[in-house]
Amino acid sequence: MKQKVEADKLRKGMFVCDLDRPWLESPFLFQGFLLKSHKEIEEIKKLCEYVYIDCERGDDKDGNRLKIVYDESKQEKKEEKPKQRRPNIHKEVKKPKTVVQRSYTASFEDEINPATKLREIAHSYVEKLYSDIRTGKSIKAKTARTIVTGMVDSILRNPDALVLLNSLRDHDDYSISHSINVCTLTLSFARYLGFSHAEMTELGIGALLHDVGELRVPIEVMRKPGFLSKNETQLMQSHTVHGGDILRASEGIPPTAIDIAESHHERSKGQGYPAGLKEAEIAHYARIVGIVDVYDSVTHNQVESNSISSTEALKNMYNWRNEMFDSHLVEQFIQCLGIYPIGSIVELDSGEVGIVISIALERRLQPKLMLVRDEQKKPYMPPRIINLAEYAEGDDAARYEINRVLEPGDYGIDLKSYLLRELSVGMPH
Ligand SMILES: [Fe+2]
Ligand SMILES: [Fe+2]
Repeated sequence: MKQKVEADKLRKGMFVCDLDRPWLESPFLFQGFLLKSHKEIEEIKKLCEYVYIDCERGDDKDGNRLKIVYDESKQEKKEEKPKQRRPNIHKEVKKPKTVVQRSYTASFEDEINPATKLREIAHSYVEKLYSDIRTGKSIKAKTARTIVTGMVDSILRNPDALVLLNSLRDHDDYSISHSINVCTLTLSFARYLGFSHAEMTELGIGALLHDVGELRVPIEVMRKPGFLSKNETQLMQSHTVHGGDILRASEGIPPTAIDIAESHHERSKGQGYPAGLKEAEIAHYARIVGIVDVYDSVTHNQVESNSISSTEALKNMYNWRNEMFDSHLVEQFIQCLGIYPIGSIVELDSGEVGIVISIALERRLQPKLMLVRDEQKKPYMPPRIINLAEYAEGDDAARYEINRVLEPGDYGIDLKSYLLRELSVGMPH
């Protein structure tokens, strides 16, 4: 049951389920949350005159908690929904009303080691694949399928581990890391959208191979920072056509992967390349990978100093959503990543700085962090693992709230070195 409440009447324990403005115009980039601190209430008061609260998930206007009667028939209906929402390539996909919230079957700590191995295997495969393509050999699709299947399994158990490893990008191997990052994040997004295992695998193969055509473009053009001449731009853009050709000539590559390679730079209003397709003409899988591709390119730029924070990237993509992308998919992507995506560097009210390593869907304002700087910004040796959700209601609640998201490189924090060092000795629990 929903109740309308004026913002200055909000209290801790209420579950906010709707604002008086679109969610995405607020810092609360997700659908609903339980009010746990005065700071959250103050944030809402700054933005909204009124909100709606869900009395089945929190206190009502008078501070009472409704008793929820479990309705089995409702539950059964909920579980049937994913089947109706499966995407179908080349068909316009209707907007799903809700997103499946799959539960994790492994903890972050249990998944980080298998995920690290999978990333290493994927890295070796793509490295070999790229050298094979350069020497004119065809692609071993069977191996790609085996590797992506392993990644799908990991993402389904707990997506945070494999996604966090995207921050390990090795800039000497930009294109290899980019392929694996796009694959990982696409799979995490597909999990969020409720795709089946088989659909995730098809999509993942396409994401992993989306830029193979770059191997037919002179490396000095692909690696050139800054302005490209008209001729260089044409060469660079031809990677989409080359990608389609390479994949078409390989045995066992799913047709969806060819669509993805050819169309991941097409944009909604027809301003993309190579064919200038409009949104309805762009294969659904290619629209998904196109969004993830842009996000990874701006957050992990080839020129490291040009990288922007995930928050900044999502803000920009939200502003571009109608012009460039399938706007509904962009909104879902933002909700999938949340306000503090995995790998973000955040500063707490205490002054301590941490890396977001895990997020619970219900508690997105209180992720699990690896604290790497103390109140005076001196390094924690070793880093401390802290779950902000555990501090949400205690005496230290105000100290352990996130104050802001930092830009990559702030306070000289080298994410990669932290993750490598911590992963090599196992993640502290
Ligand atoms: Fe590309
Ligand atoms: Fe790409």
